[in-house]
Amino acid sequence: MLKKADHELYKYINGPMHAPLKHDSAHKHVSGSAEYIDDIPEPAGLLHGALGMADRAHAEIVSVDLSEVKAYPGVVCVLTAKDVPGDNDIASGSHHDEPLFAETKVEFHGQVIFAVIAETRDAARRAARLAKIEYRDLPHWLTVDTARDNAAPLVTPGMVLKRGEPENELDKAPRRLKGRMEIGGQEHFYLESHIAMAIPGEDDEVTVWSSTQHPSEVQHIVGHVLAIPSNAVTVNVRRMGGGFGGKETQGNLFAALAAIGAKKLNRAVKFRPDRDEDMVVTGKRHDFIVDYDVAFDDEGRLHAVDAIFAARCGYSADLSGPVTDRALFHADSSYFYPHVRLASEPLKTHTVSNTAYRGFGGPQGMLGGERIIEEIAYAVGKDPLEVRKLNFYGDVGSGRNVTPYHQEIEDNIVARVVEELETSCDYQARRKAIIEFNKTSPVIKKGIALTPVKFGISFTMTAFNQAGALVHVYQDGSIHLNHGGTEMGQGLYTKVAQVLADAFQVDIERVKITATTTAKVPNTSATAASSGSDLNGMAAYDAARQIKDRLVAFAVEKFGVPVDEVVFLPNRVRVGDQEIPFPDFVKQAYFARVQLSAAGFYKTPKIHWDRAAGRGTPFYYFAYGAACSEVSIDTLTGEYLMDRTDILHDVGKSLNPAIDIGQIEGAFVQGMGWLTTEELWWDDKGRLRTHAPSTYKIPLASDRPKIFNTRLAEWSANAEPTIGRSKAVGEPPFMLAISVLEALSMAVASVADYKVCPKLDAPATPERVLMAVERLKTL
Ligand code: MTE
Ligand code: HPA
Ligand code: MOS
Repeated sequence: MLKKADHELYKYINGPMHAPLKHDSAHKHVSGSAEYIDDIPEPAGLLHGALGMADRAHAEIVSVDLSEVKAYPGVVCVLTAKDVPGDNDIASGSHHDEPLFAETKVEFHGQVIFAVIAETRDAARRAARLAKIEYRDLPHWLTVDTARDNAAPLVTPGMVLKRGEPENELDKAPRRLKGRMEIGGQEHFYLESHIAMAIPGEDDEVTVWSSTQHPSEVQHIVGHVLAIPSNAVTVNVRRMGGGFGGKETQGNLFAALAAIGAKKLNRAVKFRPDRDEDMVVTGKRHDFIVDYDVAFDDEGRLHAVDAIFAARCGYSADLSGPVTDRALFHADSSYFYPHVRLASEPLKTHTVSNTAYRGFGGPQGMLGGERIIEEIAYAVGKDPLEVRKLNFYGDVGSGRNVTPYHQEIEDNIVARVVEELETSCDYQARRKAIIEFNKTSPVIKKGIALTPVKFGISFTMTAFNQAGALVHVYQDGSIHLNHGGTEMGQGLYTKVAQVLADAFQVDIERVKITATTTAKVPNTSATAASSGSDLNGMAAYDAARQIKDRLVAFAVEKFGVPVDEVVFLPNRVRVGDQEIPFPDFVKQAYFARVQLSAAGFYKTPKIHWDRAAGRGTPFYYFAYGAACSEVSIDTLTGEYLMDRTDILHDVGKSLNPAIDIGQIEGAFVQGMGWLTTEELWWDDKGRLRTHAPSTYKIPLASDRPKIFNTRLAEWSANAEPTIGRSKAVGEPPFMLAISVLEALSMAVASVADYKVCPKLDAPATPERVLMAVERLKTL
């Protein structure tokens, strides 16, 4: 709830909808009073769970001896596959390839074989280590390359996008090059690890508090493992301490375990893994290997692109299908490919099953596209920015606005965004100065790069593009808001409350944002694909519209005025020539028996996608942006600093500029971590050795660019009638960080006079930078 004084900070533009209000929980986040699941007062008799995990990458389970586990003081029971009343499977969507408990074989180091439930968390965790499990090892492979060597199966069918005649054009163009890029994965590192608490109810009922982006799927999975219908399961989540895609499906495991324990023992059960366990047992961003074969001319203009995007998916499908699809949808970055063939290979490996992560494969696809541009730029001896501009998608009617998936781009503003940023950050002069600097500086070398972003908005699974909201107006004029979206720090609750406050023209304090629950809004989609505010904002708006229509009809009848003389003004309603405070107006409507509650609904128009044909309109619109980064590297150690980043990003007409700028900066820094210091490393036995912050390096506050300017493209408005003409913001700015990798690349290239593309793989850790410098020095 905002205090009155807070409002002085905020300028209302046209009502609360586009105002830079603070996040509704900001003060609670920083003071520690925001309630996360582990903060909820614990029910009497609560028990705690711990995971019993495999220590083989791929093996048959020969025997499992849990006697010492069961005998450990405080242990109440040990769960295995036999304790699952329903189906022992927690796979997301329509897949059926993720056992809750491994029974006969394990397929990654860390897979759950059993769970311990004890009086204390400490007892559960200690007991879990006492299992004696015999295995018969099977051959395992951990990487894309070794998966290919072993003719590994795909976890889900790959996709092909094709347009034109790449096979012929590759040979015909004046120039051609082939290359390969390795792109690393990423750990989500949400501050709140996974957690679930289940409270048994009467008959078959169970209530689960789950840190999930997808309460409806948790509800479905809990019903599935318990063999009970969805109407017996209620899933609640007030907020997550970060999700970033890591809680789109990965919460299923903990919720299922807690619910089975709770129903079996008729006591509340909580599962809260330790950070290391969370990192070992939950999926991450997919790492990719991209092989490309491209044809171009002496100017650097692309003629044809043929590329394969192979991903390490881990042992099961999870979201690898749509993730690898989205990689292909973004492999064009912002560029027109006259002839193109793109294929994905979602490979099975004996590692944890990889999952959604901010950008959802898009970043990997786009990075491949940008690498192609960079290679061509070095090949023709131009600034990569020039080659980018040469290849940008054209306007409608230019014949150069068709994507590899045959959707025509109609809202392209990338050239304008790039041009404005180029000017405002003084790119050309700074690049010249850097080239001069590098001539005389023997050890420290600088680099600068300006890269664009174009990101498609909508779930590529058309059915997911729907949302519901439930709005109650109470007799005192206070408003209760519930919708299907979840809050993970991104400010969705605040934005949707703004939509409602705007619709009723009331102060935001009047709107109470309530925990997401499957009992109020059913059949929701994951809060994902950056579409939370687009979908839920519209659903809430629809609910408000219904209630307002009834209120207007009531006023017309009661006061005998025409419809256009009932006007919602700030905190009051004008009816004819009288003005009635909102609460009084609502109370009068109540006495006239007007229904003051409504369920709103929204589905995204226009989109459709035919995956088999590789054709359609998967995206409702695109969000654009550009970033320019400048870095310095130490050519003796490979260490580097971020000197400066300038960002110009398109969020349409912002729902909340303060929150949007936070999203842009946060996404950029997270993307920078992915491309620089965050490196996942498994040993040859398949053990994740980077399973804690001691070995896995996310960016620190001190790693941020020393100068960091972020601006919104304030002139932009969504061409489509989205809520307030805004655009999605959650994921697109993640890819602005590609500018950092390319700036590092330019700094490295300076040691060979910019004649050779350094082909830096990601993450460009200091070691990789140093090795690239050494490699280029010997050329
Ligand atoms: N911002 C914060 N603070 N925490 C998060 O977990 N997740 C990101 C993005 N921004 C995330 C975040 C991801 S992966 C997505 S898809 C969107 O938020 C989801 O929320 P939205 O659709 O409401 O933008
Ligand atoms: N983005 C994010 N999450 C998803 C998607 C998507 O396109 N499809 C299914 N889950
Ligand atoms: Mo975001 S990866 O779509 O949860």
